[in-house]
Amino acid sequence: MRELTRLEVPTPTAERPRRLRATPATRSLVKETRLTPRQLIAPLFIVNGRDVRQPIESLTGQSRLSPDLALDRARELAAMGVGGLLLFGIPDAKDAEGRAAADRDGPVPTALRRIKDAGLPLVLIADVCLCEYTSHGHCGVLDGETVDNDRTLPLLAEAAVAYAEAGADIAAPSAMMDGQVGALRSGLDQSGHSGTAIMAYASKAASALYGPFREAAGSTPGFGDRKGYQMDYANGREALREMELDAAEGADILMVKPGITSLDLLARARQRFDLPLAAYQVSGELAMIEAAAQRGWIDRKGAALETLTAIARAGADIVITYLAADAAAWLA
Ligand code: PBG
Ligand code: ZN
Repeated sequence: MRELTRLEVPTPTAERPRRLRATPATRSLVKETRLTPRQLIAPLFIVNGRDVRQPIESLTGQSRLSPDLALDRARELAAMGVGGLLLFGIPDAKDAEGRAAADRDGPVPTALRRIKDAGLPLVLIADVCLCEYTSHGHCGVLDGETVDNDRTLPLLAEAAVAYAEAGADIAAPSAMMDGQVGALRSGLDQSGHSGTAIMAYASKAASALYGPFREAAGSTPGFGDRKGYQMDYANGREALREMELDAAEGADILMVKPGITSLDLLARARQRFDLPLAAYQVSGELAMIEAAAQRGWIDRKGAALETLTAIARAGADIVITYLAADAAAWLA
């Protein structure tokens, strides 16, 4: 072997960041971002009936649950210290107007009443959208082939009021209709629910990463796509403008979605807004981790905690994740 040249290179003087990486104890002492189970929100998919558990193939570890089993799951998650639940409903029947979204006896209000009655230390959040309830799978009512923004708003407000009545602490409008936060705020206030908070899906991109969710909720659009209402993922300034508008309309929490593709938006929003920020680690993000882990190509726990920590480091106070239960167990 050829002898290495002896190069003269400068040695570091005062600055040696490795000093604080030397032991687990020093590393832990200087950790800047600490995840806690309390900041995690677990999504749950609710169906009608009793004792129903339908495993969702596209979402490893998740099942559609009837309200009674959702209550059992809520108890487990509360015991693990998870902060809250985000409920999605899958109705028995869908129609063009998505009327089942506001059905007081639908899966979400029924589950909310049961979980609320149990008095668990969980924040109950109801997703507010029509796509799980419309026969065509779009997030609002149609005028020809486009979603009619203004005719959709009162339907979203109706649904939010039904969830607030059933015990939701927070309504989370996800339809990406203009004015949806204002519509919910006014509907809730008019019906005596001024105490129900709004977590706005403020910057929600038209993303390829929602595929597994749509399979879970049976909400894949029957035609076209959602680009006419969800945001172009190429646009950062527009995302901040969406957040600005939602804050002005009365949002209590601003959410971005997906998580790992929105880190810059979180960082910019953290500088600009004093409202709590949330991020949704969506179904496709879970799918990427699970599929790679299953093949042994990445370490599941490592990838899960690294992505969740990055989302928090970027600025999210709250993280919605299908990994909430696993993460809570790892962090305990
Ligand atoms: C409904 C809704 C969707 C998600 C959250 N709320 C689906 C969509 O917009 O198509 C996606 C969540 C996920 O992928 O985990 N509007
Ligand atoms: Zn929708």
